[in-house]
Amino acid sequence: MSSEKNKVMNPVIEAINNRMSIRSYEPKPIPRDIINTIIEAGNQAPSRGRQEKGSKEFLFQPWRFVVVENSEFKQKLIQTTYPFWKNMTESMKETHPEIYEQVMMQYEAMPEPKDMVYYSAPVILFVIGPAGYAVSCALACENIMIAATSLGLGSCYVGFGAMVKGNAEVVQALELTDDERIYGPIVLGYPKDEPSTLASIRPKKKEPKIKWI
Ligand SMILES: Cc1cc2nc3c(=O)[nH]c(=O)nc-3n(C[C@H](O)[C@H](O)[C@H](O)COP(=O)(O)O)c2cc1C
Repeated sequence: MSSEKNKVMNPVIEAINNRMSIRSYEPKPIPRDIINTIIEAGNQAPSRGRQEKGSKEFLFQPWRFVVVENSEFKQKLIQTTYPFWKNMTESMKETHPEIYEQVMMQYEAMPEPKDMVYYSAPVILFVIGPAGYAVSCALACENIMIAATSLGLGSCYVGFGAMVKGNAEVVQALELTDDERIYGPIVLGYPKDEPSTLASIRPKKKEPKIKWI
């Protein structure tokens, strides 16, 4: 079977295969046209249709995007989400000591101000959509990450980064309503030449389980 593998290659497959979570970024801004191109790729994803109460219109593309570049706002995000990261990391001390050690190595090596949630990425991209549209929004997220790879950028889907509902100021800035959810956020930036220590604990991709009928 392995002789059938990897016979077909093109730039899209290459970008899909090359995408990996990047956790160490150059402090270099991303040009706006590049950010817009990446968001447009997300916007092209397939989506489930929905009808809002009282409306006959059938709506697609449930997502909206918030791009965070501002350093002060990033600090507010970090202060809000860091306790969740810390709790989870502390719990790994017992359960997964080898991962805990790698994470702490990255933490120690990080310059101040330390950011283990968003990895000091120049852009934090929030994909926001109504509750119940996780599949559609996740498809947009994947398009975003593949487009980023194809343009020489690194990305990481940061689940911890979404835990911001406890901070009213952040909720207000994101214009987050009660029936909305955050998908991602996805951090974006130019990868550092030297990969983060966390790259060493990247799970090895397994062969796909396939049944042919
Ligand atoms: C729903 C979801 C949540 C994730 N949350 C985080 C996170 O909070 N921090 C992080 O560093 N990586 C996070 N990741 C990235 C995964 O750790 C990563 O995708 C996985 O280890 C596979 O590695 P790869 O992306 O390099 O293929 C998340 C991924 C997904 C899909």
